Amino acid sequence: MTIAELIAKKDEALQEAAAAQTPEEVEQVRIKYLGRNGLLPAIVKGFKDVPKEDRPAFGKITNQWRQELEAALAGKKADGDTAATGPAFDPSLPGRWFVPGSKNPISRVMEETAAIFSRLGFSVADGPDIETKFNNFTALNTPAHHPSMDPTDTLWLTDELLLRTQTSPVQIRTMTANKPPVRIITPGRTYRRDTTDATHSANFHQIEGLYVDVKPVSLADLKSTLTYYAQEMMGPRCKAIRFRPHFFPFTEPSVEVDFQCHVCGGKGCRVCKNSGWIEVAGAGLVDPRVYRFVGYDPDQVWGFAFGMGVERIAMIKYGIPDIRWLYENDVRFLDQVK
Ligand code: PHE
Repeated sequence: MTIAELIAKKDEALQEAAAAQTPEEVEQVRIKYLGRNGLLPAIVKGFKDVPKEDRPAFGKITNQWRQELEAALAGKKADGDTAATGPAFDPSLPGRWFVPGSKNPISRVMEETAAIFSRLGFSVADGPDIETKFNNFTALNTPAHHPSMDPTDTLWLTDELLLRTQTSPVQIRTMTANKPPVRIITPGRTYRRDTTDATHSANFHQIEGLYVDVKPVSLADLKSTLTYYAQEMMGPRCKAIRFRPHFFPFTEPSVEVDFQCHVCGGKGCRVCKNSGWIEVAGAGLVDPRVYRFVGYDPDQVWGFAFGMGVERIAMIKYGIPDIRWLYENDVRFLDQVK
């Protein structure tokens, strides 16, 4: 067969396909050309006898032939189906259900926290993920030799820039830009050089709080503020919080904050490892040295700060055993937390 003959055969096949009316006729055309003993398979089988220089053209034309014929027959078949079964749109069918998605627990904890603190007069402040060494460490009174600055803990971008290891630098930004009083919370992403496991992730979230006023503010104010938050966030079984002494470079005195276990109400259970308390935050009264770094007079202002892990709150609140579930966006998981 010459190339001209091949093209003629192809046109003939397409004309037959176009002329076919009934499903039977369509099927006949299909069998004649595409069936196991049809013309196209036979032509392909005869390829070895085609002169070498014609083979590329032969291959191309037969491929086009098969594609065009299949498309033509499929189009006919669809027409036939529509003709046989009526219009494609059936108004008597029930509508398609729209299934609303749900928020990731990380977003929910941040939004609920913002709502609770807004009732206490706190507004939301924001800061960038890429921070200066000054805001993330120096102005937070962190000495140059502090281990948290080590490249094994902090993701440095340059000698002066890093991925913030905490939301505390927003304290510095806020106080530098505003005169006291300030009353902010700042939810956001934070980064540490960690390997990921069930309770660690190199990228996680914190919520920072800062309250600075021109009248005395004490640990009692910190305690009452966080007690209100704990009750609102964790529910009625969490009635109290407690402070344990700790150290942070930017607060003095510093405390770690435990919430009474919201599952057992403090009696002791699996969730709180039988202690009745769950560690949730770091906090303290703002160190006078921090005030000096931001241009406040340490003798004229008083304040407290706290920082909480968002994933940690989400995990204890919703009973999530593995931090990685929070990042996988598996709808089976998100549906349960909804
Ligand atoms: N930034 C501290 C941390 O990441 C938490 C903290 C914030 C402590 C504010 C005291 C005051 O561990």
